[in-house]
Amino acid sequence: MNDTIYQLFETSINKRSHLLDANTDALRLFDGIGDGIDGIFLETFADRWLLSSRTSHLPPQVRDYMLESGRTVYWKRLDQHQKESPSHLAGPAQDEAFTAKESGIDYKISFQSGYSQGIFLDQRENRKRVRQRATSGQRVLNTFAYTGAFSVSAAMGGATTSTLDLSQPYLDWAKENLSLNDKSPEEHYFCKGDTFHWLRRFAKQGRSFHGIILDPPTFSRDKDGKVFRVEKDYHRLVDLASQCLEPGGWILASTNCRKLSIREFQQEATLKLRKKHQVSALPMPEEYSGEAYLKSLWIDL
Ligand SMILES: C[S@@+](CC[C@H](N)C(=O)[O-])C[C@H]1O[C@@H](n2cnc3c(N)ncnc32)[C@H](O)[C@@H]1O
Repeated sequence: MNDTIYQLFETSINKRSHLLDANTDALRLFDGIGDGIDGIFLETFADRWLLSSRTSHLPPQVRDYMLESGRTVYWKRLDQHQKESPSHLAGPAQDEAFTAKESGIDYKISFQSGYSQGIFLDQRENRKRVRQRATSGQRVLNTFAYTGAFSVSAAMGGATTSTLDLSQPYLDWAKENLSLNDKSPEEHYFCKGDTFHWLRRFAKQGRSFHGIILDPPTFSRDKDGKVFRVEKDYHRLVDLASQCLEPGGWILASTNCRKLSIREFQQEATLKLRKKHQVSALPMPEEYSGEAYLKSLWIDL
């Protein structure tokens, strides 16, 4: 075993041990260049590891470390096959979905459901903030919701949530996540379809929310061929969301677009905001020691 690689993993994992406790067993353990190996990332989900690499060949010492860890390890290649599930690399296979915990909330995780495993760990601090702000009696709209992790956080705060995504399987997964935390999906709302379409519809119907979460893909094309690019079009999304917001409401606007700095993102996101507002930039969780690719803004209106 190459001592240096071994030490880099040991150091990065030990450094994060204070973040793992009875309430949180899902975490980024190794963050690429920030921990000394460019393009190598390691996450733990309830003691099962997910290794991600930017290249299709793993450095042999990295592979050895995984084999010797004694844990279930799956491997995700970030360079291609973007739709594929991670492959089994070491330890016992994990063929079933299982549960991982973050900040006391349970989430369903699967290594067999394609490119993503059910939760984006880089949003942990934002989920905490949503939980704090989404108090009882609030209505919170989670757009581009994926498996509804933000919805569960808001529901745990006491809010009634509306979860919006193009994909029915993801909406079903969001319902499972609510149930896992003793929140009845029947007491929450689910909308299948396009966020832009639904925001216009809500505004027309006079339906409003106290909080709205925006976390769109960097690039997308709707069914009429209209293109959305974070770097040029995010202001349209914020503008539409602001029209469905209660006075004194909030928007969490997030993106992992690498082309924009946080300052440029703030300029773009607030470009067309006519109402008076206050913006604060939210940092990534402390264990993301590498590139600060996730940009998040909390906008109070
Ligand atoms: C990056 S994920 C969002 C992650 C989520 N915010 C979270 O933190 O768990 C993007 C999601 O947006 C959904 N999506 C993509 N385009 C959409 C659109 N136009 N309207 C609604 N959902 C969309 C995808 O199905 C996917 O679930």
